[in-house]
Amino acid sequence: MSIRILSTSALVGPHIEDLGLRFPELRIAPYRSIAWTAGLPGAEALVVLLSEPLTEADLELCPNLRVIGTYSVGINHLPQACCKARGIQIINTPGVLTAATADLALTLLLALTRRVSEGEALVRSGDWRGWAPDLLLGSSLAGKTCGILGSGPIGQAFARRAWAVGLKVIFWDRQGNRSPVDLGVDIAERLPLDDLLRQSNVLSLHCPLTDQTRGLLNREKLALLPRGAFVINTARGGIIDEQAAIELLRQKKIGGVGLDVFENEPDFDPQWCTTPGTVLLPHLGSATIETREEMSKLLCDGIRQALLSADLSPS
Ligand code: DGY
Repeated sequence: MSIRILSTSALVGPHIEDLGLRFPELRIAPYRSIAWTAGLPGAEALVVLLSEPLTEADLELCPNLRVIGTYSVGINHLPQACCKARGIQIINTPGVLTAATADLALTLLLALTRRVSEGEALVRSGDWRGWAPDLLLGSSLAGKTCGILGSGPIGQAFARRAWAVGLKVIFWDRQGNRSPVDLGVDIAERLPLDDLLRQSNVLSLHCPLTDQTRGLLNREKLALLPRGAFVINTARGGIIDEQAAIELLRQKKIGGVGLDVFENEPDFDPQWCTTPGTVLLPHLGSATIETREEMSKLLCDGIRQALLSADLSPS
């Protein structure tokens, strides 16, 4: 049987199975396995995860490819220019993971500022000796300023959550847009990056990883943050210079770092585990059952449509 759809995963929920009912020429094979590579020459659609980069060389092996679906909103792992040049459609999963990702960013922020991991470890250790006036004191958020990099749907969803815990929100927009953002609950300013960093007691990243944002938060930029600022990253690891962040954290210039994403996943820099003031999660931004099912549906509907319109178009 020739393979039309080649997916590295069954995804969550029934949607890829349903797609297989419409297109029995569906193969699920692990990324870069022999079966996966053997399916490339016939594939009209590829489905990959955010941890499975595709290269131009991969696309060379797929003369029939019409569409790539990624089970993520981020598309930084795909050869976008090559796809554009070859007319290959990219389908990702925007919108449906906005709330889940914003929730997780707030979770990281609260866990970090209220020292949740340390508290839990103390209780589990058996060493807790009872309530004390100065036990594991954290930092309040109300009245402080939260800088958000990226004023798209996830940035705005996080902004509303930040507003709800009493933070004043300001945005930086990579397109240079300076008009205020209407959050419904409040109006937030958009500022140049350096101005935003100087004011941000909390900094949360919600922009994609692109050529423009790779390494954006280098040592010089991170040093602009007020002393003791908290940095949250649920976007992509490559946006922040991790070595600089670790050093500033160890020097207590940064107050804490909460990460759901790392530059090298899952082989992240082990220094993160030995640096105090961190909360570290394994890329769980969209990880709720409901969200992952919605992502599957969106992706599989998109693949179905792309292949049906390819079937209808004159060859
Ligand atoms: C995505 O889908 O790109 C996000 O990283 C999920 O957390």
